[in-house]
Amino acid sequence: MIRSVFKGSGSALPAKLVTNQELAERVDTSDEWIRERTGITGRYIADDSETTGTLAIEAARAALADAGVEASEIDLIILATATPDSTFPATATKVQAALGCTRGPAFDVAAVCSGFLYALATADSMLRTGMARCALVIGSETFSRLLDWEDRATCVLFGDGAGAFVLRAEEVAEDGPGMLATRLHADGAHRDLLYVDGGPSTTGTVGKLRMKGREVFRHAVVNLAEVLTEVLADTSYTAADIDWVVPHQANLRILDATARKLGIANDKVVVTVDRHANTSAASVPLAFDVARRDGRIKDGDLVMLEAMGGGFTWGASLLRI
Ligand code: ACO
Repeated sequence: MIRSVFKGSGSALPAKLVTNQELAERVDTSDEWIRERTGITGRYIADDSETTGTLAIEAARAALADAGVEASEIDLIILATATPDSTFPATATKVQAALGCTRGPAFDVAAVCSGFLYALATADSMLRTGMARCALVIGSETFSRLLDWEDRATCVLFGDGAGAFVLRAEEVAEDGPGMLATRLHADGAHRDLLYVDGGPSTTGTVGKLRMKGREVFRHAVVNLAEVLTEVLADTSYTAADIDWVVPHQANLRILDATARKLGIANDKVVVTVDRHANTSAASVPLAFDVARRDGRIKDGDLVMLEAMGGGFTWGASLLRI
């Protein structure tokens, strides 16, 4: 059978780390509050020379090197972001030009924190149907540009970064590697719980992030547990078979609560929210890349990726590395 097989990953972070203590000098908050409520100790913040595009290009180059794939082999680029460099053209086209790729489509996907899962599912469909052979799937964000630095309930939660996967369509055996099952969801009835109060067609401004944190938290745990159960039900695997869960890194308490609901041990959950905070669409490939490079995620492992974000949108994907 033809599957989308993971070939390599890469990631990128801005140069500047901002600790909770540094943030507490500008915002009415404390290291203790942020750690206790979220598990976050620091986040990387882009300077003027670093953009969603530059971070994406760095992550993409690292992923190509890791995969041993030449840029000329890439015939599909999908970039998930809610913070594009420009309203148009898609930031994916900037990546395409920087890498010197000339084949196939390049476009952005907007599903906020679930964006990477949406992009991965789109690439998987296109690879399995023969529309492309070798895809670069990227999550890249500069959420710091959307934050209201006067709103302590949101500005402490987010950071900037990028992560990328290379996937190739390959003929594999039933028990071989590749993307095994994916489920995506959206429920626009909840779009006012987490949104940006601007946009080209409404205010004509970029706007700032607004969130009802407590309600987002409650929905996140329920939706994520449900979608993980759905994905497992699409396969012959159970939670006990999973080697690693790589969740969207929103809040340590959401990660703990979701793992508990599914009976997954905490030491099987990759956590980077402490160092990176919530990097929206970048968080899943960034956390994955950290765990792969430090030797935790190995070839042959069964890995569950999951995310939930504004919209609400949410999804999960099970892959054999
Ligand atoms: N520093 C100090 N105090 C603060 C801060 C801060 N940074 N932010 C809020 N507070 C205060 C509030 O003013 C409030 O004070 P009050 O009781 O005197 O009114 C108190 O802390 C409690 O505020 P809550 O918002 O009720 O705190 P809660 O325990 O719900 O934690 C948090 C807030 C961390 C945002 C939590 O609700 C959360 O993590 N929600 C999930 C949101 C999320 O992760 N969103 C990311 C995008 S969606 C996703 O990725 C899944």
